[in-house]
Amino acid sequence: MQNVPLKEVVLNTGVEGLHLIPSEKNLVGASVELVEVPEREQVLRRKMTEIRNEFNFILLDCPPSLDLLTLNALVAADSVIVPVQCEYFALEGVSELLDTLIRVRRSHNAKLAVEGILLTMYDDRTNLSRQVRDDLRDLFGDQVFSTVIPRNVRLAEAPSFGKPIFLYDPECKGATSYLDLAKEVIQHDQKGVGAGP
Ligand SMILES: Nc1ncnc2c1ncn2[C@@H]1O[C@H](COP(=O)(O)OP(=O)(O)OP(=O)(O)O)[C@@H](O)[C@H]1O
Ligand SMILES: [Mg+2]
Repeated sequence: MQNVPLKEVVLNTGVEGLHLIPSEKNLVGASVELVEVPEREQVLRRKMTEIRNEFNFILLDCPPSLDLLTLNALVAADSVIVPVQCEYFALEGVSELLDTLIRVRRSHNAKLAVEGILLTMYDDRTNLSRQVRDDLRDLFGDQVFSTVIPRNVRLAEAPSFGKPIFLYDPECKGATSYLDLAKEVIQHDQKGVGAGP
């Protein structure tokens, strides 16, 4: 909001090639301040032109609500990863989000693609997890990533040590699943996949 050049706020991490622009809880104030800004949904997109070509991939982590911060991310993004917990209301949430993407495409960002729907917190022992997975695949076919992220205690522990999973426990099932996901995303990128709604 204060026009700080992005290059000045990019931090290095303990992982080579991985950089971070952190957030903090006061960012919620931005979604209020943005209301007054002309072309308020374009702020992040414009800002990102400063660094867009410096990185192979830029991941924008969004809040769970569709506020102005999320809208800014959807306007700035090339594609969207839709994480879905294997819970009863998951399907409904995904359909609503895909409708939102169609609206954003019409109004602000015609090229916005669905990178993939990602099943998370998957527990093979429960019927519910399997049911949600099968329903998502029936409904959304190829748009669902082949990779499924299991419920994995090491993934839950890693943040309390302030570490990404690849430093905390690179061998655990959670880490190898995220590695598979990264490979899928890179494959899409090389094939130039831009899935529709
Ligand atoms: N696959 C997993 N297995 C076990 N625990 C997980 C897994 N994924 C995330 N968690 C844990 O669940 C909690 C919420 O995860 P996370 O912050 O990634 O969710 P989120 O959807 O981004 O939440 P928010 O909407 O608040 O941003 C964290 O404590 C995290 O460590
Ligand atoms: Mg989050």
